[in-house]
Amino acid sequence: MIFETHAHYDDEAFDEDRDTLLSSMQENGIGYIVNVGASLKSTAESIRLAEKYPFVYAAVGVHPSETGELDEAGFLWLKEQCLLEKVVAVGEIGLDYYWEEPAHDIQKAWFARQLDLAREVKKPVIIHSRDAAKDTFDMLKEKHAGELGGVIHCYSYSAEMALDYVKMGFYIGIGGVVTFKNGKKMKEVVEALPMERILLETDSPYLSPEPNRGKRNSSLNLPYVAQRVAEIKGISYDAVVEITSQNAKQMYYL
Ligand code: NI
Repeated sequence: MIFETHAHYDDEAFDEDRDTLLSSMQENGIGYIVNVGASLKSTAESIRLAEKYPFVYAAVGVHPSETGELDEAGFLWLKEQCLLEKVVAVGEIGLDYYWEEPAHDIQKAWFARQLDLAREVKKPVIIHSRDAAKDTFDMLKEKHAGELGGVIHCYSYSAEMALDYVKMGFYIGIGGVVTFKNGKKMKEVVEALPMERILLETDSPYLSPEPNRGKRNSSLNLPYVAQRVAEIKGISYDAVVEITSQNAKQMYYL
């Protein structure tokens, strides 16, 4: 069974068929799903989904682009959610310099706080980093975040940096981009990484793999990602599914 390590089924893109879709996952080979919080509201909805479906787990956290909403009360609430049984990680947290707002120092401050929170509650972290390679790497290094365990999700930087993250203790999340025709960089990343450090993810509803690029994504597209990883690594599809599922279980303590 495939382990979907990163999806957003709370997104409004799933409002019309969320329950039908989620109910079809297991019969289609998707064994586990981690629904990842990106704001306080989506964290609450992730937890609700995890409470409803036995195979769904939740990550709690505020995405860098949403950190403008955080204050001490919100942060305290996040911390309380970390104690719930089906919460398996703190995330997604990190830095996103693609957008102008919030200011970099605000993003950094809440990234640091949420890394400290993960340490306090002993959970792995799910890292979002876009156009912020150096600052993300430096902060994770300075915070010794490798000790927490976790994943650099939707990894988009160099193969060399991916190996540095592995050395630090992280897994690398591989999604639909690896199937794109212009996905040469991701091919190099997968080639360079040991299988024991690769996780499969979709970031649904975003980043649909080929042949469904541009459409709404769901975990049902993960076989396309697994197949591409198998081709790049020269191993069987089943081996990719098996190893990446074991990796995810290890990382999320499941
Ligand atoms: Ni995400």
